[in-house]
Amino acid sequence: MTATLPAAAVPVLGDAPIDDPAVLAASWLPPLGAEPLRMTLSTIDADGFPRARTVLLSEFDGERFFFHTDALSRKVADLAANPRVALTVLWPDFSRQLVVQGTATPAPAAELADAFQRRSPYLKQLAWQNTDEYAQLPLPEREDEWARFHAEVPEPAQPQGWAGYGVLPHRMLFWAAHPAGESAARRVEYVRDGAGWARRYLPG
Ligand SMILES: Cc1cc2nc3c(=O)[nH]c(=O)nc-3n(C[C@H](O)[C@H](O)[C@H](O)COP(=O)(O)O)c2cc1C
Repeated sequence: MTATLPAAAVPVLGDAPIDDPAVLAASWLPPLGAEPLRMTLSTIDADGFPRARTVLLSEFDGERFFFHTDALSRKVADLAANPRVALTVLWPDFSRQLVVQGTATPAPAAELADAFQRRSPYLKQLAWQNTDEYAQLPLPEREDEWARFHAEVPEPAQPQGWAGYGVLPHRMLFWAAHPAGESAARRVEYVRDGAGWARRYLPG
């Protein structure tokens, strides 16, 4: 795949090796409060099949990758039975990819509250109305319900069923394109090794 990458970002995948993947991840990811990246969250369903969907990468706290969702969703049921996940973060310009394998645990209450406060008004309302019952309604009724809720509750508080998870990685793979296709894309893989990380380079 051809993609452009700011020249300053290229050395992190080789010329100036970084021992701690959290440092590399923090240098790649947008700061808190900026437009969040989307990622594919893969869980394992009850039949052992991978189940994947897009979610927002709400936060990276230097250790864990957080996402937020509805407590009644299928992903939450999957996680209750098997907390092992993969996250695939693709940068919108296709210049970078970060793949994380790790274990998801429920987010602390303070993190949940902070994340909800950072959400846009639309996403706050969605956290209340994105129900199975609402999904069954025809569009005009869904629009009416949405408008009615918005008029009655202009600033929705954090709902009971809003859930969050932090993923603690045990493997992280960073993929970067070379600017202008002057060399091959390259990956660096980090695997937990005792208290530290083992690092190696892979073809793209
Ligand atoms: C761009 C995009 C962003 C999304 N972000 C989220 C999110 O942050 N949390 C979430 O629960 N669902 C999000 N969704 C919806 C999920 O992809 C999915 O349809 C929903 O969570 C139900 O998944 P499940 O039944 O596998 O649990 C997003 C969808 C798209 C297309």
